[in-house]
Amino acid sequence: MEPRPVPFNRPTTASRALDYVGEALAGGHLAGDGPFTDRCRQLLEERLDGARVLLTPSCTHALEMTALLLEVGPGDEVLMPSFTFVSTANAYVLRGATPVFVDIDPATGNLDPDDLARKVTPASRAVVVVHYAGIACDMARIGAVAERHGLVVVEDNAHGLFGTWRSRPLGALGAMATLSFHETKNVTCGEGGALVLSDPALVSRAEIIREKGTNRSQFIRGEVNRYAWMDVGSSYLLSDVLAGVLASQLEEADAIQESRRRTWCHYAEALAPWAASCGVILPTVPDDCGPAWHSFHLLLPDRAARDRCIGHLRDRGIGAPFHYLPLHLSDMGRRLGGHEGDCPVTEDFSARLLRLPLHHSLLDDEVDAVVAGVRAFRP
Ligand SMILES: Cc1ncc(COP(=O)(O)O)c(C=O)c1O
Repeated sequence: MEPRPVPFNRPTTASRALDYVGEALAGGHLAGDGPFTDRCRQLLEERLDGARVLLTPSCTHALEMTALLLEVGPGDEVLMPSFTFVSTANAYVLRGATPVFVDIDPATGNLDPDDLARKVTPASRAVVVVHYAGIACDMARIGAVAERHGLVVVEDNAHGLFGTWRSRPLGALGAMATLSFHETKNVTCGEGGALVLSDPALVSRAEIIREKGTNRSQFIRGEVNRYAWMDVGSSYLLSDVLAGVLASQLEEADAIQESRRRTWCHYAEALAPWAASCGVILPTVPDDCGPAWHSFHLLLPDRAARDRCIGHLRDRGIGAPFHYLPLHLSDMGRRLGGHEGDCPVTEDFSARLLRLPLHHSLLDDEVDAVVAGVRAFRP
């Protein structure tokens, strides 16, 4: 009998999702900032040390808001990893700023503080960190470089919600952070995101940017008697129907996280002897990090072995994709001046990495099939 396929991802679902969608539709508030948005905001703020949370239609949009809040433009540089999703860079490129690609630490895939220090210039305005796979960057050393050069720290926390660094929540470490609720993330409403503001001074302008450049949020709260165009802005609100889906999952976040933790730890334990025997590297968790259990990767000895391993797992029906291609070597990155060798660790890490299925509805026999499939591969 053909083995049952094991998809790389199945979007998370929660028991009350349909009830909440029905309630949102019946209640007649389908636009943004309705009762479910408020519920999500409260649940997220509790998890993020009281930082202010504004739901957005995606992490991409939240990143665009950070660029508007930073008021970066032509002549300004924003430092970020090359090993990230395009949205991290696009947000600032859209404002005319220049992304400066920083290499990663080979142990974690996270921004390398030494390369960061090397690439700072007088034009640098901010550094965007990505907690790859939900494991925190070295925030002490990155923070020290940022402080020395007056850089604003932005966390692109698309992977890291519910993860910690020195017991503090990821997403509450920089002046601003962004979250993703895309269907590949631990909690999801299909497409969604949030802007997290740890610096209270940013909140009122962020509300205006999010409401098409108007002070409508203040008007809704009864603080002003009409609303008008105040600043630049766009439409960055999430529909309350989708917020209902998100609320149902945020209420079950502990159970969702626990099931992901179990799978992640099972992979780590069950694959350790195989990995040690054939030169494969499993994820590293530094001592001061509590993972968000977002993804689990293997680093094969080289690109050819990685590509063969993806094919071997595909033949067994197991979805095990590669991940980010270095941004500095993309068509756009090259137009911005990127060359081979600019970020050598990124180039190597990206070529050798594949990710295993990790989602909250994985069944034990599916996890066993993944482990057996991986162990049957010899690089
Ligand atoms: C690091 C990172 N930032 C931003 C995004 C964009 O997220 P969204 O799809 O919510 O816009 C992603 C998407 O996976 C990501 O991995």
